[in-house]
Parts: sequence; C-alpha cells; structure tokens
Amino acid sequence: MTDSPIALPAVPLLPLNSGGSIPQVGLGTWPLDDAEVERAIVDAAAVGYRHVDTAAKYGNEVGVGRGVAASGIDREDWFVTTKLDGGYQGDDRAVAGLDASLDRLGMEYVDLLLIHWPLPARDLFVDTWKTFIRLRESGKARAIGVSNFKPAHIDRLIAETGVTPAVNQVQLSPAIPRLDHRAYDEEHGIVTESWSPIGGSGDLLGDPILADLAAKHGRTPAQIVLRWHVQNGLVAIPKSRDPQRMAANLAVFDFVLDADDLAALDRLDEGPGAGVDSDHSGH
Ligand SMILES: NC(=O)c1ccc[n+]([C@@H]2O[C@H](COP(=O)([O-])OP(=O)(O)OC[C@H]3O[C@@H](n4cnc5c(N)ncnc54)[C@H](OP(=O)(O)O)[C@@H]3O)[C@@H](O)[C@H]2O)c1
Repeated sequence: MTDSPIALPAVPLLPLNSGGSIPQVGLGTWPLDDAEVERAIVDAAAVGYRHVDTAAKYGNEVGVGRGVAASGIDREDWFVTTKLDGGYQGDDRAVAGLDASLDRLGMEYVDLLLIHWPLPARDLFVDTWKTFIRLRESGKARAIGVSNFKPAHIDRLIAETGVTPAVNQVQLSPAIPRLDHRAYDEEHGIVTESWSPIGGSGDLLGDPILADLAAKHGRTPAQIVLRWHVQNGLVAIPKSRDPQRMAANLAVFDFVLDADDLAALDRLDEGPGAGVDSDHSGH
C-alpha cells in the first residue's frame, strides 16, 4: 500500500454469507471505456476506493485491470466484481465466461462474480448457478451472487442447489426502494447492492427534498442519498468520472440522518412499477 499524507475515509465492510466481506461503497464503471476507467480507478484509489464494479457487458474489463494494476494498491486489497454476460448462461458456459473476464482483467480471481440478469424466459439461471458454485470452489470467484434477481428467482436457486447468493445487485435508491427485495435479502443473509444508487441519468438529485436535507447537513444531495444507502445496510456503487465527486461520494461516514430525515426520504418513493422489471429486461 502507498503511504498517503491525507486521512482517507474508512469504508465499512459488510460480511458475506460465504466468508470475506465487501466494502460498503465502491466505484461503478458503466459506461466508461478502457482508457477512462483506467484513469478513474487510479483517481478513485487515491481518494480511498478499494472496490470496483464492472461487467463483461461493459467492455471495459481490460481498463479495470490496468487501473487496479496502476493504482499502487495491492490486488489483495481490492474488491473487484464482474458479471457474466447472458450469452454465457447455461451448461458450463460460465467457466469460459469467467476465464475470458479474468483474461481481460489480467487477474487470477475476482472477489465477486454475479449473474448479470436472470433472463427468466430462457430459464438457464439455475444451471448457471450450479456452475457458479463450482467456480467458487475453484477459487476463481471468491464469492458468487446475482444481479437483477427477484425473490422468486432466488427461491429457485436455493431450492435447487442449497446455495444462497452472497449478493443481489439491483436498481435501488430512495426513488426505487424495493422494500420487498431488501426484506427477502435480510431474511436470507444476502447483501443487497444498489446500482444507479444516486438515480443514474434521472433527476433524483434535483429533488427539493434532497436540497433541504443537503442544506440541513451541509452536504450535497448525492451524499444525502449515499448516506441513506449506508444507513439502510446497503452497498452502493456510484459511478463518477470526476475525482472530486468520487471523493465526495465516499465521504458519507461522518454524519447521520435522523428519523425525520429518513421519513422525508421515504417521500421520494415513486411507487410500484418504478425501475426496471427483470422479467422483461436484461442481456
Ligand atoms: N447490475 C446491473 O444491471 C447494472 C445496471 C446499471 C448500472 N450498474 C452498475 O452500477 C453503477 C452505478 O449506476 P449508474 O452509473 O447507472 O448510476 P449512478 O451511479 O446512480 O449515477 C451516475 C451519474 O451520476 C453522476 N454523479 C456521480 N457522482 C455525482 C455527484 N456527487 N453529484 C452529482 N452527480 C454525480 C455521474 O456523472 P459524472 O461521471 O460526470 O460524475 C453519472 O452521470 C454503474 O456504473 C455500474 O457499475 C449495474
């Protein structure tokens, strides 16, 4: 590890049900290309990030690997997630899918391998999960999980294999709080990870409720939202290409939202039907 004269934020680790732990805030990398993501990871490492989220589908795993290598931080001190593309679901294709990702990343293992989407119309996700269990046993994926899975999809994984995912990564924010997913995950010891945690390309951050809370706490709207994720026990992976925003997005461990604040944030819920429906989306 490099010495730094600046005190970096201590990012809490959440335990995973198969062992190990995941830093509660990481860097999202979609839609950065190889060159952009390499630079972003070096910048992110300098302000304290040790967790990065990519996917085969993002086409930037080569840049992620280069960024981690150039970061000055040992590989063992990083938490790297990638996701299996839909074309590699079924039979043993996940073996080749992960090998191709590792080759692009220039790594011996990933910390977390996710099934990117359930694609229920194809009904290959249980088969894929059986291969994931072997990949975890091989050490090439230290933990395995899913993304965009509904509780009913995870029920099938558990019923048919006995192995519960460590993580379910879903679109989640105060606007799309997915209380049903979170309750299910908590009951089953699954870490819930939020993609588009600050609303992605939408206008969540412009909401006046967030402006009020940001003024009250002397923070930015994004920090209020990220603090909401942290206090709810979620993992958040905000994406930014801007080093100042990256640093701000990690500086959410030194203030607390009170019950009134949390009640105000509940009013951002856009209700049933908001967000992607993974029965009809994905790749
Ligand atoms: N599993 C899945 O199916 C799935 C789907 C989508 C995304 N993901 C993952 O989740 C990550 C995050 O999701 P996302 O990228 O869709 O959305 P997001 O992280 O909620 O939002 C990213 C947007 O917010 C801006 N931003 C970042 N920090 C900010 C700040 N402090 N103040 C104001 N704006 C800020 C970014 O712009 P700048 O870069 O200009 O700062 C970017 O436009 C992705 O990068 C990807 O790794 C997973």
